[in-house]
Amino acid sequence: MARHLLTLRDLAAEEITSLLDEAQAVADGDIPALNGAVVATLFYEPSTRTEMSFEQAARRAGAEVLHCDVEHSSVRKGESLVDTVRTFAALGTDVLVLRHPASGAPALAARHVRCAVVNAGDGMHEHPTQGLLDLLTVRQVKGRIAGLRVAIIGDVVHSRVARSAAWGFSRLGASVVLAGPATLLPVAAPVPGVEMTVSLETALSGADVVLALRLQRERQAAGDIPTSTEYTRLYGVSDPVLRRAKPDVVVLHPGPANVGVEITAEVAYGPRSAIIRQVENGVYVRMAVLRWALAPRTVRHGDAATPRRSPQGQHAAPVVG
Ligand code: NCD
Repeated sequence: MARHLLTLRDLAAEEITSLLDEAQAVADGDIPALNGAVVATLFYEPSTRTEMSFEQAARRAGAEVLHCDVEHSSVRKGESLVDTVRTFAALGTDVLVLRHPASGAPALAARHVRCAVVNAGDGMHEHPTQGLLDLLTVRQVKGRIAGLRVAIIGDVVHSRVARSAAWGFSRLGASVVLAGPATLLPVAAPVPGVEMTVSLETALSGADVVLALRLQRERQAAGDIPTSTEYTRLYGVSDPVLRRAKPDVVVLHPGPANVGVEITAEVAYGPRSAIIRQVENGVYVRMAVLRWALAPRTVRHGDAATPRRSPQGQHAAPVVG
């Protein structure tokens, strides 16, 4: 039974916590055995850390990687998403990792293949593994999630990172505030109970966690922000504005960061930044997610795993555990 990871919205608090526990176990050296499972990476948008991190996670856990270079694939000849993902399934894919500019593309793919589909970022919708690695990083630094105040700053409306983080942190009992210029905030709160404000000062007051977002210029309309200089002056995360946050605030950024625009170099490379730790944790989270996607619901660490055959019946499926 393949399990899809399409959103954090779909996951109960217990399931998120158990994925974080698994990822922490991986960080502590308990590498899952994916025994030759086939993990395909299909990225219709640029990526450095997410794509490399999934591939690194797959390889370290003994899976095979089927990497698709979309620019040089039949997508360029007009092949549809559904035909492309069905082709990958027929090639013996067990887990299809998909990034796409259209919100909902992984959900569409999941309806057409029997292998697991993991959303690696879909348009302005969600980026669940990024949300999990943000949670893991904060849990490591702060020792908990519940009760923290998390400020997510910047281009919220276009950010799948913001949406997954808002769902994940809220589910685990943190209070979340979204802040940015009115043109870059959603009309209504995307997650029940989250606060929204145009005031950076209000958002940062008493914050335990600050998540700075990149301006998603590829998704913005002309005129969303007058100039990036003005944006930086009003919403840039810098040492002076962080004085409003708790003294032990931890600063996150999903990367790639436009250092000097949404975050200053002092903050990005300073002692409160956990940006590099986020990248490291990304590999652990993705190993845990690949195992979760492959494992039947009843299989947990230490249980006897059951071999299964892939839906196509061509590929002897891996034993995981
Ligand atoms: C983010 C993405 O692609 O959604 N990057 C990432 O996955 N680490 C954020 C961004 O591109 O701004």
